[in-house]
Amino acid sequence: MERLDKILAGTGRWSRREVKVLIRAGRVRVNGAVLCSPEEKIDRNATLLVDGEAVNGARFVYLMLHKPAGLLSATEDPRQPTVLELLPEPMRRIGLFPVGRLDKDTEGLLLLTNDGALAHRLLSPKKHVDKVYFVQVDGILDGADVHAFHQGMVLNGTTCLPAGLEVLSPPDQALITLHEGKYHQIKRMLAARGKPVVYLKRLSMGPLTLDPTLSPGGWRLLTPEELASLPMLDS
Ligand code: URA
Repeated sequence: MERLDKILAGTGRWSRREVKVLIRAGRVRVNGAVLCSPEEKIDRNATLLVDGEAVNGARFVYLMLHKPAGLLSATEDPRQPTVLELLPEPMRRIGLFPVGRLDKDTEGLLLLTNDGALAHRLLSPKKHVDKVYFVQVDGILDGADVHAFHQGMVLNGTTCLPAGLEVLSPPDQALITLHEGKYHQIKRMLAARGKPVVYLKRLSMGPLTLDPTLSPGGWRLLTPEELASLPMLDS
């Protein structure tokens, strides 16, 4: 059971204030009956109509965003712009936050949600959710780098889990697969190999792959198929 105004505001279509006005004006039906009290608690699975139109009362919102360079993976910052600023105003009021961080200059796939439990499960080291990155370095990557990644590199005394390094052509480019997410991990691993990162982009995270039709700064809701592919949703 949850407050009617909270469920409606959680869709991101209206602000809390707008929702209260709609409800008090008798424009909202719950299981067919008009309800005029915003604070009334209703079943999450109730059928909701606003002006006769069905509203998806889904509690949580999940979206993929193509993070451009130059924005922080954070919800707010006193000095610098964050990825939340790419979203329209109502979407900024529903508690969305990025699941994991990309550095300010890193581009690519970022999942945003207001489902804290899912975020926790996706980031849990026990779940080993693979993340694949495209990288370009200042230098030439070779078999010794592949071996070092595979062995598990030691950064400041901490041994990383074995990581995948697939050298591309030209060999200053590669695909990297991480099974964990340490601070600046790829930059630190490649700096330790003497081949600093010049460009980094996340291509996938677990079953989610960056939609190639999204240009940097673009976003869209996850499809039902993508949502179903997140194995952690039901655990
Ligand atoms: N590794 C990094 O160094 N930076 C990122 O943004 C992601 C992984």
